[in-house]
Amino acid sequence: MTTDEEYWIFGYGSLLFKPPPHYDQRLPGYVKGYVRRFWQSSIDHRGVPEAPGRVVTIIEKSFWQTLDDPHPASDSDTVWGVAYRIKAEYVDYVKNYLDIREQNGYSIHTVPFHVADSDREIPCIVYIGTPENEAFVGPQDPAELAKHIIHSRGPSGENKEYLYKLGEGLKDLSVHAHDEHIEELVRLAKQVESE
Ligand code: BEZ
Repeated sequence: MTTDEEYWIFGYGSLLFKPPPHYDQRLPGYVKGYVRRFWQSSIDHRGVPEAPGRVVTIIEKSFWQTLDDPHPASDSDTVWGVAYRIKAEYVDYVKNYLDIREQNGYSIHTVPFHVADSDREIPCIVYIGTPENEAFVGPQDPAELAKHIIHSRGPSGENKEYLYKLGEGLKDLSVHAHDEHIEELVRLAKQVESE
């Protein structure tokens, strides 16, 4: 959260493996009440306007429950990620950097972040592709989605690299940091690659 002294940002996607500049603390943890899905299209990073790729967003669990998600349902409402602390003198620079880096449909929100293995809670800002944004794709068949990711690429590189780095980044956070959606997509994407 923004205070006069510092600014915390929650990363659950590319920020997990590509940190923002000028952070001085990185804490693993989670937010509750959300579900992470590869349901945001990407025309500027992992895809192009003629062939958009797919990146993650987080969706309020209460809204997600109203959708027909073909992915095996998970009872989890916990999204693991990291919180980065940015000192006051760098806040404007980092905000500007992230607004340019992550502009495709995301908007800025505030969420309570729970630090792993502690009672500490930190208000964090987070970029969310809400269901109203034009890049929100919504429920997709996981096997089709994995194929789509394998075949997409954009200015930031191959879409599969984003998926695999996210999967690896989550494993490194905590033994509790599971995400069935990501783990399943990694498995399906590797299967497609080996065919
Ligand atoms: C992230 O948490 O890594 C992130 C997700 C969407 C936009 C920007 C950053």
